[in-house]
Amino acid sequence: MIEVKRAFVVLSHTGPMTPDFPLADLPGSAGRLDILCRCATEAFLLSHGIRRDVRLYFVIRGKLLVRLEGRTIRYLNPDERSTAALIRKAIAAAQGARPGEWVPSTPGIHARWGDLAHVREELEGEGFSPYVLEEGGDFIRGVTFPARAAFFLSDHRDFTPEDREALAGLPRISLGPHSLQAQTCIALVHNELDLREAGWTSVT
Ligand SMILES: C[S@@+](CC[C@H](N)C(=O)[O-])C[C@H]1O[C@@H](n2cnc3c(N)ncnc32)[C@H](O)[C@@H]1O
Repeated sequence: MIEVKRAFVVLSHTGPMTPDFPLADLPGSAGRLDILCRCATEAFLLSHGIRRDVRLYFVIRGKLLVRLEGRTIRYLNPDERSTAALIRKAIAAAQGARPGEWVPSTPGIHARWGDLAHVREELEGEGFSPYVLEEGGDFIRGVTFPARAAFFLSDHRDFTPEDREALAGLPRISLGPHSLQAQTCIALVHNELDLREAGWTSVT
């Protein structure tokens, strides 16, 4: 079985908690769902393939969780609209769910009611070491990562005080001197870890 080695957790502060949004208006009535779609593309898609050893969570408004598992995900394509349709199905599946119960949607995608602390608990329970991606943190090149690493990042908004409380005490990592788009951060983390795994670069 493929082992999950990398996880990303994107905090969406404006995303939809109900599935009644049009796929034609992802940045507007869907509350910047376009950002989450691009994050899914960067988390999983290679030029001709899927990164099967990756997991991605969305934490929507601190209440609704969507989990995408590279090992089993299907129907993920590079276009934002079809990715948004997958996320919308997961949000629909969660509507009648009991708190704390992961509800399956399409293959590889689950949703549940829960918060950031639940995600952190789940990841740490599976042996992931969590890191916060943030401007001004320690430069990634100087950080040695364990076999399983999880990276928490925000959407177009800053982390809220509640987010910071749930992420308290975690190491903060910076990718470079500029404030970047969330999906770019995922691509850069993948590339950094890819380079290390391939022996092209090492920690300085
Ligand atoms: C578009 S930025 C958030 C907006 C920005 N903090 C603001 O409101 O001015 C998206 C997220 O990507 C991550 N990020 C952006 N630039 C980064 C960098 N240079 N190093 C590490 N993480 C970064 C952070 O988690 C950030 O919250």
